[in-house]
Amino acid sequence: MKKLLITGVSGFLGYHVCQLASTSTQQQWEIYGTYFSHDIQIAGIKLIKTNLAHYQSLKQIFAQIQPDAVIHTAAISQPNYCQNHPDESHAVNVTASINIAELCAEKSIPLAFTSTDLVFDGKNAPYKETDTVNPVNLYGEQKVLAEQGMLAKYPLTAVCRMPLMFGNLTPTATSFLQNFIQTLIAGKELNLFIDEFRTPASGNTAATGLLLVLTKNLQGIIHLGGAERISRYDFGQLMVKTFNLPATGLKACRQADVKMSAPRPQDVSLDSSQAFAWGYQPLFIQQELEAIKKYIQVD
Ligand SMILES: NC(=O)c1ccc[n+]([C@@H]2O[C@H](COP(=O)([O-])OP(=O)(O)OC[C@H]3O[C@@H](n4cnc5c(N)ncnc54)[C@H](OP(=O)(O)O)[C@@H]3O)[C@@H](O)[C@H]2O)c1
Repeated sequence: MKKLLITGVSGFLGYHVCQLASTSTQQQWEIYGTYFSHDIQIAGIKLIKTNLAHYQSLKQIFAQIQPDAVIHTAAISQPNYCQNHPDESHAVNVTASINIAELCAEKSIPLAFTSTDLVFDGKNAPYKETDTVNPVNLYGEQKVLAEQGMLAKYPLTAVCRMPLMFGNLTPTATSFLQNFIQTLIAGKELNLFIDEFRTPASGNTAATGLLLVLTKNLQGIIHLGGAERISRYDFGQLMVKTFNLPATGLKACRQADVKMSAPRPQDVSLDSSQAFAWGYQPLFIQQELEAIKKYIQVD
């Protein structure tokens, strides 16, 4: 059986990728997953605790496992945290990612890397793969440096730009969905932007896209956005409708109303028509929410 190394399996996306890869009928994998601060057990997955910022540990993992393919989802993924911890986040988001590309290049094995829609400034959406990057925060800058550094070291890297993701809880990670639901159920105010637009996808859909990229051995920059563009506020309205939540707390606000460490672009919707043509088929958001409804506790 071929060996698949997935980094960041204690994270939201990495966990979904693990679940999907371990049940894939297209390709059977022996799966190895890395985690760092959140101890996790996943049935059927061989788990390795490691700090990817330590090059020697990374090198040892590659030498021991000898993976046939890698999906690199691990990152310091919170833009505000990156803005306030530039060196720590650079070591993981940039340096470790480039090191992984170098190690994959040595063996010429497929590598899918998860970048972000936040590489764009939000002024000219929807964005195609060929559009110019111009991040407005440090997290976006780090992802751009990682993309460029990885492609320079290993041009066969698949740089997958992921959209905003949502979904059911994993053992060690949440998505924003759970906080939104709890806030509304508690009768508190949930202020969502009417002027921030994304093309969201569920964790499960995003994982499907990453595995498709690997199976088809795609390379270069690939947008894996969701099926439709939506504002944060309209997303909240769909949630209220789908999960029968109390709507009184849902309030519209604007980006300018909220002060955050990391500046936020207004519209980083992705044009993912290239991936759609390759067979990536995200559901519409209402359908995505219906599909995850059974996992969501709303009482
Ligand atoms: N979530 C989104 O909406 C979104 C949108 C666009 C792009 N992305 C990108 O998609 C990928 C996955 O995002 P996510 O939301 O799943 O992230 P996440 O839930 O924050 O998970 C991050 C993962 O990275 C691991 N990690 C962090 N620092 C590490 C280190 N020094 N050494 C080893 N592992 C480390 C974490 O391990 P521990 O938890 O065990 O410490 C965790 O498993 C990231 O590359 C992110 O930038 C995410």
